[in-house]
Amino acid sequence: MFIVFEGVDGSSKTTQVKILEQYLTQKNIKNSVIKEPGSTDLGEQCRTLLLQGGLDKRSELALFFAARADNVNKNILVRKNTEYLICDRYVDSTVAYQCYANQSISEKELKPMLDFFSYGVKPNITFILDVDYEVAVKRLENREKNHYDTAGREYFQSVQTYYRSLMFKESYYYIDTTKLDIQTVHNEIVDKICSVELKIYTPPSDLA
Ligand code: TYD
Repeated sequence: MFIVFEGVDGSSKTTQVKILEQYLTQKNIKNSVIKEPGSTDLGEQCRTLLLQGGLDKRSELALFFAARADNVNKNILVRKNTEYLICDRYVDSTVAYQCYANQSISEKELKPMLDFFSYGVKPNITFILDVDYEVAVKRLENREKNHYDTAGREYFQSVQTYYRSLMFKESYYYIDTTKLDIQTVHNEIVDKICSVELKIYTPPSDLA
């Protein structure tokens, strides 16, 4: 099963990825965690360049795509059908950041490229974790800041606008974490994964 976590910076996405990994491992369920950009040699090199900043918008987009194509080839295609594969950010990050926040490219131009560079591989479920700006800033206070974390309220809200537009779409699950504790969010995620798994592995009733 291919599970993706998306969300604004400070939404506790990475924390939830970690505790889901621990939960699955404790239950002896085979799983791997990957992130974008990253998780392959090429991806990590792209990540280093991207987080340094200072690139023009098209070079930046090209590096996100290079990291993605390599990740799909080396990690996602080979694992998604045999284990729980959890990915921290995927195609919706590109729409949120490169279209909505940075305006590097229009959504119409980007959409076919997203499919191309991800080999058309879609997640079984994408969790969208949200949080109010003020709470996000507090949560990020202790974290080492990178180029993407320092852009301010307007930037944050552009990213958030896109993620919120996915709220009711099929194969997405939205959680506003502003007032929730970590365990409550985790429980909701596990419940949802169980229901998705039932759907994938239960044959249609006429075949059962
Ligand atoms: P990272 O430190 O991994 O942020 P986080 O822990 O919040 O995931 O940095 C990754 C940054 O890259 C993040 O701010 C979003 C950005 N990004 C894009 O702009 N486009 C993309 O396609 C992806 C995958 C990430």
